Amino acid sequence: MQTQNTPPEESASSGPAGEPPAEREVGVGPWQGPWPEGEHWDPRLLTEGDRRNVVDEYRYWKHEAIVADLDARRHEFHVAIENWQHDFNIGTVVRTANAFLAKEVHIIGKKRWNRRGAMVTDKYQHVRHHPSVEEFVAWADDAGVPVLGVDLFPDSVPLETYDLPRRCVLVFGQEGPGLSDEVRAAAQATLSIAQFGSTRSINAGVAAGIAMHAWIRQHAHLT
Ligand SMILES: C[S@@+](CC[C@H](N)C(=O)[O-])C[C@H]1O[C@@H](n2cnc3c(N)ncnc32)[C@H](O)[C@@H]1O
Repeated sequence: MQTQNTPPEESASSGPAGEPPAEREVGVGPWQGPWPEGEHWDPRLLTEGDRRNVVDEYRYWKHEAIVADLDARRHEFHVAIENWQHDFNIGTVVRTANAFLAKEVHIIGKKRWNRRGAMVTDKYQHVRHHPSVEEFVAWADDAGVPVLGVDLFPDSVPLETYDLPRRCVLVFGQEGPGLSDEVRAAAQATLSIAQFGSTRSINAGVAAGIAMHAWIRQHAHLT
């Protein structure tokens, strides 16, 4: 297997002073040597090279083979974000959910969201839409998934010391209004992330990353 170059969004290469940074090719070129055997290999990628933003383990794999492999080992936590005003953090939430292998991402409210921040990770992540909080809560009840709100309310409990259930859905609010009253009422608990500075809150995408990682620290198998 060949080595993978750094994807552009993660590379910090710069050219000589005054010149734009040099373009780096992402991924790997055409497969060298005899082709490997197996249904998961993608003949087109083996021929042309694989320029996708995927870990080395999945180089040259068919898209559906990667999703099937992820599905077989997804974690038990879900994440949800309210989207009443086209929240620009959703792409970040989807990308982080992909990295931490969340079961599903739930968008509550408007169906459309800005995919740019997701960096194509949404192709490998199950994203489910619920037009209303009521429908989201009905899904959670049916699926037996406890709802945990994440926001800074006076009665929120510190995420840092909370025993997160293995099976849960962590719900995040929007930049302006925060978590809706409906989600707050439906939540088994609301969790706050400790802050120490002057700002009232942190960015919702950052809060989602911290909360997902709290689940990872408590439940993921780290090898
Ligand atoms: C920027 S905040 C909303 C603004 C907030 N209602 C206020 O009074 O400033 C957007 C979302 O980020 C998450 N969030 C931000 N800071 C948080 C914190 N310290 N603890 C828990 N959630 C936080 C919550 O999900 C919240 O609904």
